[in-house]
Amino acid sequence: MTPDLFEFEEREQQQAWREQLCPGAVVLHGFAVQDEAAVFAALLGVTSEAPFRHLITPGGFRMSVAMLNCGAYGWVSDRNGYRYDAIDPESGKPWPRMPDVFLKLARDAAASGEFEGFEPDACLINRYEPGARLSLHQDKDERGLDAPIVSVSLGLPAVFLWGGLRREDKSVRVPLMHGDVMVWGGPARLRYHGVLPLKEGNHHLTGGYRINLTFRKAT
Ligand code: SIN
Ligand code: FE2
Repeated sequence: MTPDLFEFEEREQQQAWREQLCPGAVVLHGFAVQDEAAVFAALLGVTSEAPFRHLITPGGFRMSVAMLNCGAYGWVSDRNGYRYDAIDPESGKPWPRMPDVFLKLARDAAASGEFEGFEPDACLINRYEPGARLSLHQDKDERGLDAPIVSVSLGLPAVFLWGGLRREDKSVRVPLMHGDVMVWGGPARLRYHGVLPLKEGNHHLTGGYRINLTFRKAT
């Protein structure tokens, strides 16, 4: 079997696979694959308007993941803390608008995860280079804690850490491949999560990177 055919068959299988991690959290394997070209083109549009940057944590560390936002609000971190801001502090201008194809993907995935009516107003775009990681954290800076988080994985695979409601709870390792979409909300909304250091590789769309789109209701 040629590698291409193998990859194709693997994807076909992934498309049907829905993995319930716990009440309120599901991985929709391969959910975004069929829209990959449109999503990637839209991503290039956003990145042509504003650059990725490595934010500084309140403790003074430079994050290994490079970030950018699109939508009405963007997540930012600096020496003063974490917040959502309608203005990109680097340019002094609003964030690039959220592309329609992003919005539709987020709404459709949320509905498949049994969260109907999701209207995200923020999309954090994370770019991982080899070695980049995200330590265990909760997504709790949003006012809309009733709304789920929709997280779209593109490009190189990663190992996602899925923890509990307390930092010290044991976490499970969830491999996330290109096109996988995770949806968590309700009883799972404040679960700790993170990403292990990215391994090197080459992906046909994203090259040496993993890109993650995280949709939230910030306000
Ligand atoms: C995040 O927690 O903000 C990103 C998760 C991911 O990159 O999969
Ligand atoms: Fe997060």
